[in-house]
Amino acid sequence: MPGPTHSSRFTPIQPLPGSADVITRIGELIAGLRPDAADMLTAFHRIQHQFGYVPREAIPLLAGQFRTTPAAIYGTIQFYSEVRTEPPAKTTVEWCSGPACLLKGSTNIRRALEAVLGCPMNGTTAGGAFGLRLVQCDGTCHLAPLVRLEGRYIGPLTVSEAIELARGIRGDDAGGEEAVTGEQPAPVGGGEAAGLE
Ligand code: FES
Repeated sequence: MPGPTHSSRFTPIQPLPGSADVITRIGELIAGLRPDAADMLTAFHRIQHQFGYVPREAIPLLAGQFRTTPAAIYGTIQFYSEVRTEPPAKTTVEWCSGPACLLKGSTNIRRALEAVLGCPMNGTTAGGAFGLRLVQCDGTCHLAPLVRLEGRYIGPLTVSEAIELARGIRGDDAGGEEAVTGEQPAPVGGGEAAGLE
């Protein structure tokens, strides 16, 4: 009996080894989505909402659903900073990379956070206790330079305040976070320019 003559420019994709429950659930979440960009974002959102991130097991399934390659799916995920491919840390500090924050010294805030928390931007510490995540401007520039922590906006921050905040999160200084978050945000232009200390 002759073999199948079906031809496709897409190579059949084999699922990665992983939890059968995870693969089944992901399949349910993306079933019925159309192979277009809008529905791909919907798929990322549904999966991340369910698992807290997009597990690697999802990549081949997404590629099959959206008729593309795993590399293209991975590249699209990387494009969106809001989509994670690793489980979120227990405590994640979100650092704003927007222009107002940059103009007010957020690069030095970032360096301070990375050094004190001991993890790179968009990374987590070993064991997943702390994480740093780059986020875009969401219009709260009057607080620049700022970070977001568990839904709170903290700014304008100086470098020394960022160090104090990070130490407080790590538990080095129980009063550190309180000392910073207890302040009222300054109005536009009221932030102290953060210099490298
Ligand atoms: S640039 Fe950071 S909040 Fe707008």
